[in-house]
Amino acid sequence: MKTIIEPFRVKVVEPIKMTTRAERESHLKDAAYNLFLLKADNVIIDLLTDSGTAAMSAEQWSALMRGDESYAGSRSFYRFEEVVRDIFGFKQVIPMHQGRAAERILFSIMCKRGSIVPNNTNFDTTRANLEYLGAEAVDLPIPEFYQPAVNHPFKGNMDTEALERLIKEVGPERIPLVMLTVTNNSGGGQPVSMANIRAVKAICYRYDLPLYFDACRFAENAYFIKLREAGYADMSVKEIAREMFSYADGCTMSAKKDGLANIGGFLCTNDDQLAQQERDLTILSEGFPTYGGLAGRDLEAIAVGLEEVLDEDYLQYRFASIRYLGEHISLAGVPIVQPPGGHAIYIDACAMLPHIPTFQFPGQALAIELYREAGIRSCEIGSVMHSKKNNEEPPSSMELVRLAIPHRVYTQSHIDYVIEALLRVYERRESIGGYYIVSQPKFLRHFTACFEPVHAQKDLESLRSFDRELVLSHS
Ligand SMILES: Cc1ncc(COP(=O)(O)O)c(C=O)c1O
Repeated sequence: MKTIIEPFRVKVVEPIKMTTRAERESHLKDAAYNLFLLKADNVIIDLLTDSGTAAMSAEQWSALMRGDESYAGSRSFYRFEEVVRDIFGFKQVIPMHQGRAAERILFSIMCKRGSIVPNNTNFDTTRANLEYLGAEAVDLPIPEFYQPAVNHPFKGNMDTEALERLIKEVGPERIPLVMLTVTNNSGGGQPVSMANIRAVKAICYRYDLPLYFDACRFAENAYFIKLREAGYADMSVKEIAREMFSYADGCTMSAKKDGLANIGGFLCTNDDQLAQQERDLTILSEGFPTYGGLAGRDLEAIAVGLEEVLDEDYLQYRFASIRYLGEHISLAGVPIVQPPGGHAIYIDACAMLPHIPTFQFPGQALAIELYREAGIRSCEIGSVMHSKKNNEEPPSSMELVRLAIPHRVYTQSHIDYVIEALLRVYERRESIGGYYIVSQPKFLRHFTACFEPVHAQKDLESLRSFDRELVLSHS
């Protein structure tokens, strides 16, 4: 059959409240033009993130009832540990309430002020957790990563020459670990090839540096390897995932993505001594190390989700539906990061709205317009999300809008609705204006910053200097 269908049936439905354009206009004002501050009930299609938004399966709901809520040594922990060990292969497994807790605990032990952590691309929480400790997060993607229209089968790869150059420049003693984010979320949900993983591992081995994965979307990455890399077509996604992790010393994981769970994560390592330190710190902030901030039922749901996400019929359908969205809008002229990613489509807002300068946040403007048009919530991944550097050095940044597809939530007609809305916004793109920030927090400003539209009569030069002041106050 040519038609690839959702390989699941719907058992429970959740109504969507429809809104009018006038209502959405008022919701936007109430939310200070920050889509994170909208009430979810006022969103028609929520593509803000694929994180924690999955629909759980009948098996996962059943597993909740098996949850053992013992404070210590819960049966659910041992089941969870067994599944994680089976897929990821690491000796030590510590549950965490979500991915960023794993990052904070790992970095608190391994890094200090002045440390440098290279990554293909640091996710925002990864960068923020490192910078909070006074360490530096360095992005080393391949050059194609910064060219949205360029096709590359493994655009998430790390630039291995740049990695080796950095190690020689700063000295291996300043680099406590090297990280690879699979898939590379910040720039298109693009995969990392097995060849690249091996090459990064070889460099780490040469300089005696531990290699860690940010493993959030490991199953999608493994499926891309199966589809695109020679020698992997006949291997199962699980076997490919195991090979990926065999090159690593540990990982951080947000089970809210490829764990198909609504909450949870874990931290893994092969280093027993490090694991002991991590467990001690886990007790301080997360809880006893057999629950790590999660309920026993959460551990059960993750254990089932990690197995379900490896189902290749499911991954085939997921990739097909995301590609469908990407192909329909890009054929009509909407510039997207090519090729479509594993969990999302990323629109190149700079290319779509070239009349909006970076300092007026074209990605934010586009995301707002999509909500205004049809109640669709997306996520800016550009100068609002990224640190001050991206305002100072616009050429190195991209202004993207991510349409992340929650797992098993929306059907094809929902996707058709998104396509129609995007094309309507695209048609009137020249009339869309920019935004400026009126207040922002010190870290991770995209979650809570407040915006105002730039009105035509505003003096752009004064806005530019306002932006510079913000950058300075941020540093
Ligand atoms: C690549 C990547 N790393 C880390 C995280 C952080 O995970 P969590 O939201 O569970 O803290 C995310 C979340 O979106 C992510 O996409």
